Amino acid sequence: MALETLRWEDDALVILDQTELPFRKTEKRLATAEEVREAIGALRVRGAPAIGVAAAYGLCLELRLWRGKSPAPSTAWEEARRGADSLASVRPTAVNLRWALDRMLRALEDAFTKDADLWASLEAEARRIHEEDRAMCAAIGRHGAALLQEGDTVLTHCNAGALATSGIGTALAPVYEAARQGRKISVISDETRPLLQGSRLTAFELREAGIPVTVICDAAAASMLAAGRADLVIVGADRIAANGDFANKVGTLGVAVLAKEYGVPFYCAAPSSTIDLTTPNGAEIPIEERAAEEVTRGFGRPTAPDGVAAFNPAFDVTPAKFVAGFITERGVLRPPFEDSLRRALRPATHAPPPLALPGK
Ligand code: MRU
Repeated sequence: MALETLRWEDDALVILDQTELPFRKTEKRLATAEEVREAIGALRVRGAPAIGVAAAYGLCLELRLWRGKSPAPSTAWEEARRGADSLASVRPTAVNLRWALDRMLRALEDAFTKDADLWASLEAEARRIHEEDRAMCAAIGRHGAALLQEGDTVLTHCNAGALATSGIGTALAPVYEAARQGRKISVISDETRPLLQGSRLTAFELREAGIPVTVICDAAAASMLAAGRADLVIVGADRIAANGDFANKVGTLGVAVLAKEYGVPFYCAAPSSTIDLTTPNGAEIPIEERAAEEVTRGFGRPTAPDGVAAFNPAFDVTPAKFVAGFITERGVLRPPFEDSLRRALRPATHAPPPLALPGK
């Protein structure tokens, strides 16, 4: 893929600033944890897997004064935990953020135990998380491509493609892989109000890849599905609860209900880092609420009368009963999801976070 969502270069995180897409391909060099926090909050880097990777590098930046030094264990541990908590709090719904930071803390714990170089161990772990994300996307592509026939049209919502990950994406990975295998696949992309990730980003990256894409207003998904214009729906996820309920970009729930009504198979594609067995069901998933201005002044232009109230949840929860399967790097998981998710996660990737400095 020509698109590089992020890379670690000369001790800084370089991101493709997604707020500028599709009009400008601008790279931004983030040299401090504060800049990483700002970029995640402003959706310059976005999508659950990508923000997990960005946060892991963000923690390296937070602790960069440790480089080549041996910080006192008593203060170092607290400093690391504070940095991780602060990065994790920027976007609460995508569990990949907390997952990546917990892995960083476990790597730190391990480095303390082995008396290894702390900063070098953190940097190595961030690179591993980054590389694994790339590999998980490729595997999701391979498993998901088997669901796609020659000439199929996939409807998707938001952007769960290359721009949302370090690799070829999650929901779009099967499309890229099937196309690579020589099948003609086209995509219908919901524009995805209010920040237009579907029309700005999904359409952008598919066009760059030469895959036919048609952008529709979110409200047109109903008539498209009713008319049989899509063969299947594939969306991404920000968090999959233990019972298979999952959170994704607001509007996903509506698409799921419609797909069920019109008999269109509805799949969710996500890496195991998005599965959170510690959250029992969708009601327990925290839903990020974003600024009302994203609705009332979309991209700076008034789209509602001055002073009118607006509610802007960034995500919604789709109950497991609407999901035909979860396309993961470990295969396509089928209902009952309580069992298949648990089996797929063995050994648990969401191990409890480290609680204390060994020997402290
Ligand atoms: O607010 P965003 O743009 O970060 O929302 C992104 C989504 O909802 C994606 O579908 C999800 O994170 C999966 S990305 C592989």
